[in-house]
Amino acid sequence: MCGIVGVVGKGPAAPLLLDGLSRLAYRGYDSAGIATLVDGQIERRRAEGKLHNLATTLASFPLDGTTGISHTRWATHGAPTESNAHPHGTSRVAVVHNGIIENHAALREELESQGQVFSTETDTETVAQLLDLYLARGMSPVEAAASAFQRLEGAYALALIFAGHPDLIIGAQRGAPLAIGYGEDEMYLGSDALALAPLTRRIAYLNDGDWVIVSRTGATFHNAMNQAVEREIKLTKLTGAAIGKGNFRHFMEKELHEHPIVIGDTLHRMIDPATRLPVLPALDLDLNTISRICISACGSAFYAGLTARYWIEEYARIAVDADVASEFRYREPPLHSDELGIVVSQSGETADTMAALRYIRTQGCKVMSVVNVPESTMARESDLILETIAGPEISVASTKAFTAQLTVLAGFALALAHARGTLSRDRIEALVAALMELPAKAAQILNEEDEIRRLATQIQDARDVLFFGRGSMMPIALEGALKLKELSYIHAEGYPAGEMKHGPIALIDASVPVIAVVPSGPLFEKTASNLQEAAARGGRIIVLSDSEGAKKLAGIASEVVILPDCDPFVAPILYAIPVQMLAYQVAILKGTDVDQPRNLAKSVTVE
Ligand code: F6R
Repeated sequence: MCGIVGVVGKGPAAPLLLDGLSRLAYRGYDSAGIATLVDGQIERRRAEGKLHNLATTLASFPLDGTTGISHTRWATHGAPTESNAHPHGTSRVAVVHNGIIENHAALREELESQGQVFSTETDTETVAQLLDLYLARGMSPVEAAASAFQRLEGAYALALIFAGHPDLIIGAQRGAPLAIGYGEDEMYLGSDALALAPLTRRIAYLNDGDWVIVSRTGATFHNAMNQAVEREIKLTKLTGAAIGKGNFRHFMEKELHEHPIVIGDTLHRMIDPATRLPVLPALDLDLNTISRICISACGSAFYAGLTARYWIEEYARIAVDADVASEFRYREPPLHSDELGIVVSQSGETADTMAALRYIRTQGCKVMSVVNVPESTMARESDLILETIAGPEISVASTKAFTAQLTVLAGFALALAHARGTLSRDRIEALVAALMELPAKAAQILNEEDEIRRLATQIQDARDVLFFGRGSMMPIALEGALKLKELSYIHAEGYPAGEMKHGPIALIDASVPVIAVVPSGPLFEKTASNLQEAAARGGRIIVLSDSEGAKKLAGIASEVVILPDCDPFVAPILYAIPVQMLAYQVAILKGTDVDQPRNLAKSVTVE
């Protein structure tokens, strides 16, 4: 999940690299660094913390050179200090790395026994020392790199520069993405096309296992067997336009305000205006013969998948498994070719979800991905893409991408139900109508900002917060708890309300706010009973419901937020908004780093 940018250029490299890194800061912000070739020698500038620290260092100690590599780090091995910041290297070679070299300990022991002297605790330095040893033995940079890649285990994207070779970067991809950009008499390399977007729209992606020799005039690709291969140059749709916060204080605030438009745009893509039915892109799979669906994703994207499980089982009558990708990938679940795999991901690069996708394919099943980045690795490796039209999401905590994922999955559930005849046409039309009302209702919820802020003052001093929901609202309770803990660092847990009496009820006293997402609908009364049980134990009950539900729960709730009435089908999409707004407001009150919470990164490309 670190970010990499490289340039073999004709002008000063450092400003281009710094600008590229600024587009990749979402991948990690523990430290950053740049290495260039100055008169054939490797020179580095590195700084702990966010990118502006590196910019300050460069302002005081500028870096010349037209060829260079750079890195923004999310620490895996070694503390987030300047000395552990990338690039790593020796006088012969500099290395930036995204991923984990799993056999680094064995390699380090071997290299130390051969006289290589390490200066950091990082796994990345083993790559630099291995290359250094090969170069010292007289290998050329290409020979040294090709030999070194054979020795590395784990997942990585790498970029290397070599002293005395000003027209060369060597890159490699195994399990972490790398893209090559073609400029005018200049070539680039980056973790994704977004980093390269201001420089060029002509992009070639490495396949997994590939490595690439980049010079100012072009790139030569090799596969894992060291055979020369061609990789197609594509025109990316991404623009280099800077993404700003507008008049909002944080990207998260801006992105919360984009819920109505994002849901609307996503529906516009999915619902045929003539038939008012959801449409799917052509899929080489008969929807009637799908025997089971398995959904895999991480974090909030997993909660979107978990919600879809309720919808698909109820409306399309297909059994659905939903599993976090980090578990699914190693569980080796037996799958059959008439089952459909679904992965859900904003970035389309999350390592565990990517591994789940590849596992599903090894089982002979088709994979549909719900992704926000149509050029991502997941999109490229899927049989079918359902795109969320959320636009770039910069804040590390997912907001609008989550409601867009829910919207796509809701549309997909109805498309399945239609194809399989499990719901009547009238019923589908009514549910589509409920979806179409969402943008207006989402906008109404955004107007409740003052109310949510008031609620935030009630929980900002809590040590623990519990979120309860049932049925398709249960994943929204999980989402509420995840958002609150990652943004405000308050301990929060989400539970199926009916499960409370099997343990969590022991936590309840007046100091623990219990937040219930409980719209009117089939499970309202059941959830209300669970809340009565909590109230009877002195619990401080905070209710998010519609006017009818709020009235019924007024007697036990200390706080009630009234949300627009809606069909229970779409309630998870609508109720996701206030729980995210609440986490945002608590974070503001606590003064935490809203857009870049501690220890996190947006795109988790390591497992
Ligand atoms: C939570 C959050 C994360 C992501 C998760 C998956 O606010 O943003 O839990 O949802 O890391 O990321 P993607 O969707 O890029 O696969």
